[in-house]
Amino acid sequence: MFIRNAWYVAAWADEISAKPMARRICNEPVVLYRDATGKAAALIDMCCHRGAPLHMGKVVEQGIECGYHGLIFDTDGACVRIPGQDRIPERARVRSFPLVEQDGFLWIWMGDVEKADPADIVSYPWHNDSVNWPHKHTMYPIKASAMLMVDNLMDLTHLGYVHGSTIGGNPMIHVEAKMETVRTNMGLKFTRWMLNSVPPPTYTRAVKFEGRIDRAQMFEFVAPGSILQLSAADDAGAYANGLTERSKIQFRLYHGLTPETDTTCFYFWSTANGFRPEDSATTEQLFKEIAAAFLEDKAIVESQQARLTELGETDLVDITTDAARMHMRRTVDRLIAEDSREMAAE
Ligand code: FES
Ligand SMILES: [Fe+2]
Repeated sequence: MFIRNAWYVAAWADEISAKPMARRICNEPVVLYRDATGKAAALIDMCCHRGAPLHMGKVVEQGIECGYHGLIFDTDGACVRIPGQDRIPERARVRSFPLVEQDGFLWIWMGDVEKADPADIVSYPWHNDSVNWPHKHTMYPIKASAMLMVDNLMDLTHLGYVHGSTIGGNPMIHVEAKMETVRTNMGLKFTRWMLNSVPPPTYTRAVKFEGRIDRAQMFEFVAPGSILQLSAADDAGAYANGLTERSKIQFRLYHGLTPETDTTCFYFWSTANGFRPEDSATTEQLFKEIAAAFLEDKAIVESQQARLTELGETDLVDITTDAARMHMRRTVDRLIAEDSREMAAE
């Protein structure tokens, strides 16, 4: 079950060109492409004539042309040309999904079209600030549900175990981190403080710290699948009165989890370097370190999904450090219930 009335990341804006691309989103086959004017569009990936997938066609002057018998559709899904006939039947159209290009993303709405309001899209202005926050991005296909990946980001006690050699460091630093949590309508925000702690390998590779450090991680989950992260670190004592304006290490991560099927998803993520923005080598290095760490997440979560598929999840036990994760799940369950109530009312 997915939240349907919500905006999901369908693709990075630079993934989509005039060459149609097939992507399954929330169990629906979608074709993404740019028309002759460069406008990005998302249609159901099935021609209304004989059902051929539209991604096998091509973009022409008037729209996307089906690769089977040449029907052409505009970005709203209306058929605008049928070879060999002048009259175009009213019903000759395919479903089109609202699609918005913003902050380097293409956001898609899989639910009720009347409810799609672009004002609800998560704003991520750092992607547009290459001077102060130069960034890099990519997408990992994951053989696990989007929810298991969000779970992973809501319980950071895994850092010391899964990422010991990269961003993690000592496990107990993470287990004992002081958590401050604020609930929001669409999810939650939490800050983890790890004051006077030993810097993890990734940090010492980036900055020559003299000794221990103060470390902070701020996470915001916004349903259905965005997690906005700010991580910062400075010499021990620096955060005695909270986060400072500038830290020796500060970077932002965007995580976007979009369901492909019930047990697979797309992991869109970016790293933005806010501590040595003028140094492109730092931007590269940050991306490389995080890319390696996220492959560690991918490995454990995909294996977890395989076990849950095989043996089910009825016997799983929640522990204290699951609090943020459980709140996230309750928010998602509430939104799914609201979706189905609205659908039943229609
Ligand atoms: S199936 Fe698309 S034109 Fe015939
Ligand atoms: Fe992780």
